[in-house]
Amino acid sequence: MCGIFAYLNYLTPKSRQEVLDLLVTGLKRLEYRGYDSTGVAIDSLDNKDIIMVKRTGKVKVLEDAIQEHFSGDDYSEPVLNHVGIAHTRWATHGVPCERNSHPQRSDDGNSFVVVHNGIITNYNDVKTFLAKKGYEFESDTDTEVFAKLVHHLWKKHPNYSFRELVEQAIQQVEGAFAIAVKSKHFPGECVASRRSSPLLVAIKTRTRLAGDHIPILYGKDADSVLPRSDSTAEFMPLEEKEVEYFFASDASAVIEHTNRVIYLEDDDVAAVRDGTLSIHRLKKSLDDPHAREITTLKMEIQQIMKGNYDYFMQKEIFEQPESVVNTMRGRVRFDGTTIVLGGIKDYIPEIKRCRRLMLIGCGTSYHSAVATRQLLEELTELPVMVELASDFLDRNTPIFRDDVCFFISQSGETADTLMALRYCKQRGALIVGITNTVGSSICRESHCGVHINAGPEIGVASTKAYTSQFISLVMFALVMSEDRLSLQQRRLEILQALSKLADQIREVLKLDSKVQELAKDLYQHKSLLIMGRGYNFATCLEGALKVKELTYMHSEGIMAGELKHGPLALVDDSMPVLMIVLRDPVYVKCMNALQQVTSRKGCPVIICEEGDEETKAFSSRHLEIPRTVDCLQGILTVIPMQLLSYHIAVLRGCDVDCPRNLAKSVTVE
Ligand code: F6R
Repeated sequence: MCGIFAYLNYLTPKSRQEVLDLLVTGLKRLEYRGYDSTGVAIDSLDNKDIIMVKRTGKVKVLEDAIQEHFSGDDYSEPVLNHVGIAHTRWATHGVPCERNSHPQRSDDGNSFVVVHNGIITNYNDVKTFLAKKGYEFESDTDTEVFAKLVHHLWKKHPNYSFRELVEQAIQQVEGAFAIAVKSKHFPGECVASRRSSPLLVAIKTRTRLAGDHIPILYGKDADSVLPRSDSTAEFMPLEEKEVEYFFASDASAVIEHTNRVIYLEDDDVAAVRDGTLSIHRLKKSLDDPHAREITTLKMEIQQIMKGNYDYFMQKEIFEQPESVVNTMRGRVRFDGTTIVLGGIKDYIPEIKRCRRLMLIGCGTSYHSAVATRQLLEELTELPVMVELASDFLDRNTPIFRDDVCFFISQSGETADTLMALRYCKQRGALIVGITNTVGSSICRESHCGVHINAGPEIGVASTKAYTSQFISLVMFALVMSEDRLSLQQRRLEILQALSKLADQIREVLKLDSKVQELAKDLYQHKSLLIMGRGYNFATCLEGALKVKELTYMHSEGIMAGELKHGPLALVDDSMPVLMIVLRDPVYVKCMNALQQVTSRKGCPVIICEEGDEETKAFSSRHLEIPRTVDCLQGILTVIPMQLLSYHIAVLRGCDVDCPRNLAKSVTVE
């Protein structure tokens, strides 16, 4: 999904060249979110104009264009106060092309330029209104409407501050957005805001800030139409004035500069003027805090660098022995049987009294719910419903006060999941967030939750977040069954298996070269069927999703029990099939399915347990994985699928980290 990056320096000399380098690096950090075009805007040398460079395609193309455009010594002259804004666009309104790339401008003279994520749903109405005022539009975007609306308000209210103009404009637009605005009429100032789309402000000072929060200022006449907010409150005091600000869609773009960030809330308007940041809201509600906290990020720059790997996805697959341990760190006591999930501890008695558990998510996050449902049913003895967020909303699903709803999301910003969360919250259910992104919307809007602590996931295809979501839900099931005597043996077995998991994942990762050979057999095929059942059905769904999204090959995860109800018709000697057949309670049924496939001349690749000669005898191609407890098998079986999709994608020449048409954080419905 689109990415915003803006940089403001105040009393911190930076040349335009340095600013451009910062902007390009910021965009590179946001590349993983998915995009199709890019752009930047900086001040012209005489400060009287704004110069924009935009390109379709990758950030590298933009970088080359910038080098061509801004050469010469003048661009290396330091300036004390400057604002640059930059963007990666993922097309929603209008095809990917330079004309539709951001920044979008208000007029020929570049009075106001805007970068925007999300969708302005009433843009047609605003466009019609502005067209009647004489505005002509040069792009197909909803963003241009916003730039022109600010311009219109500026002409109407020449005495308004920059912040007031943007404040008025955001009141006229509907939808989900994050924006950052720059203006030649307000040099050195930047105004940003968000509604249902993430945006943070990061602060870099040489000395400590005066406080660890920014007070929120409110407009007096906030509710009137096109009101003038009339806040008289003072801006944030700083001990020292030299300061740099970064506005970004997520923390990975700023962490190399500073770890001090403020996550903006919906309808916050953050403005920097004379180097001072203020956060305004037009409407005050009862539960509003008085200030926005400055959060200290714990993430390290190394965590978002590729290191020795060719792709982020590859790095993230190989990080799983560590990421699963990080998910359990400080929570699971392997020397005893206790597990403490600090984020939900106080809510456990309430959860135990609930009517049912609902697990809601999209894509891979949904699959982690499918993977753990059976264990949750077993250990909580509660009905467990697993829902795709989009379908859940389409159905207006009945929700009750005594429901406990889990929202599973790596990014914590997925629009469908967030909408489903708000739907359940309104109906009085207890909301539990399972996310990987501290400070994300799902995190903040949940009553309680579990951070999966997998570390930043940059590759668009989710890998380590899946295994960590899986483990978080397993830990929850273990917490829920702590005082059930009859389940102690089972709990012990799972805890022991969890303690061996990291080493077993390392073992599975050693299959990499074997999987690569297998990929060579498969990459020219059109389709791949992945079959399994019980605890491994989720791996089939997740494996097929990985193959589809990374390799653009058709792939289907098939519940082996459903074979003779239709999918068996697809099987012949040429259809590639992969089957997961492990020694668990459904082994006999899986063997049955395997026989059905081989007797139709199918030659499946089999994922089986180490040394299982009987199963291996059914095919010449197999991947052997270590034995673990049934409910954790899915963690070990998904890794060969992640590797396989990765290798097929490389062989097919696909963009592994940024598959076409996809985004890391899907902030539109
Ligand atoms: C697939 C993938 C997606 C996401 C889905 C939900 O590899 O990454 O299917 O799982 O878009 O995203 P989150 O987990 O951020 O809510």
